[in-house]
Amino acid sequence: MQTRRRVGFCLNDKKRKRMNLEAFVELCRNRGIEVIQIDLNQPIAVQGPFDVIIHKLSDVMVDAEHDSQSQQLLERFEGYTAGHPRTVLLDPLPAMRRLLDRFASYRIMEGLQTAIPGEWVCSPPYMEINSMELSEKQLDRAQRSLPFPIICKTRVAHGSSSHEMSLIFGPAGLWDARPPCVLQSFINHSAVLHKVFVVGGAHFTVERPSLKNFPRGHSDRKTIFFNSHDVSKPESSSHLTALDEEAALPRPPCDDVIAAIVTELRAELGMSLFGVDVIVNTETGRHTVIDINIFPGYEGVPQFFSALLNHIETLLQEKEGACETRGSPEHPTQGGEVESRRVTGTPPLKTSVTPTLPPSATP
Ligand SMILES: Nc1ncnc2c1ncn2[C@@H]1O[C@H](COP(=O)(O)OP(=O)(O)OP(=O)(O)O)[C@@H](O)[C@H]1O
Ligand SMILES: [Mg+2]
Repeated sequence: MQTRRRVGFCLNDKKRKRMNLEAFVELCRNRGIEVIQIDLNQPIAVQGPFDVIIHKLSDVMVDAEHDSQSQQLLERFEGYTAGHPRTVLLDPLPAMRRLLDRFASYRIMEGLQTAIPGEWVCSPPYMEINSMELSEKQLDRAQRSLPFPIICKTRVAHGSSSHEMSLIFGPAGLWDARPPCVLQSFINHSAVLHKVFVVGGAHFTVERPSLKNFPRGHSDRKTIFFNSHDVSKPESSSHLTALDEEAALPRPPCDDVIAAIVTELRAELGMSLFGVDVIVNTETGRHTVIDINIFPGYEGVPQFFSALLNHIETLLQEKEGACETRGSPEHPTQGGEVESRRVTGTPPLKTSVTPTLPPSATP
């Protein structure tokens, strides 16, 4: 007889509503999977057991840096998962922590360039500004090492203020940067962003509006302050996203290159639910990775529920397989070493990925 399969969701109200969790609960019920909404304010053990936990604790993780209540909630969650290594966690907290810090996530993006052969993929040149104030020396280095225009983003990659950005056009504008931040070269991509949404072994690419092209090189133009949600949401409409008439047409992304980026990041991060923002450089055609997001909204992906359900079922089957192996005489139970590896939800180890590209797709 099959035992009851239980999946816990730990999401804040906003994410729960956005995702339409109620509808997903129904879908799971029809497939014999019980969904429990975890209340972090109560002991988790009494709400379990869980085969899989899906969470988005990004805000708790960011708040825990300065708020003792959030710190306690996070400790409760970490305590539970450490004590239940057979529960699959989507996704592991250390990987998520890397993506909450743009300094760490930009290093991951930078690594893609060498990991994927053929110069198809890159990330824009950038500079970390960690001090609370900009020094003359840093300004000088930024001017010499980063081509203008430059886009300035907060170091913390989560929360409402993390979407406040600025476009800096010349050396004088660098004083408008508000550290700690990242200064990154702006890449012309003819106002089209490709949001790649990953769910386990599947991924989906959706087009979004994005920033228009700007002349390369420095100018006296005043810094433009903007909120990224005004330029790259499905409904975004801003003068910053309207292409000038003479602008070059956007170049389409290559599916194989996108697949190579996803394969590489899945293995690097060990995550199942994440998003990658890719733009295609209008001049060079290079696929440029500008952002990696934790458990994104999957807006525009009607297959999200079915892909998530498939992924959960795959994990449950793997888990059941691991339990059977453990129970057999050749594989007596040994403190869960094999299972804890198998049940972290970590995708297969990295294999070298070389995109097979159509002859027309030149970088
Ligand atoms: N280097 C760049 N060159 C050109 N455009 C860029 C660059 N970096 C960011 N953008 C534009 O700014 C937008 C916001 O950037 P980014 O994705 O880094 O911010 P975010 O607020 O963290 O995004 P999200 O909403 O995905 O969390 C992008 O969607 C894109 O339109
Ligand atoms: Mg983004």
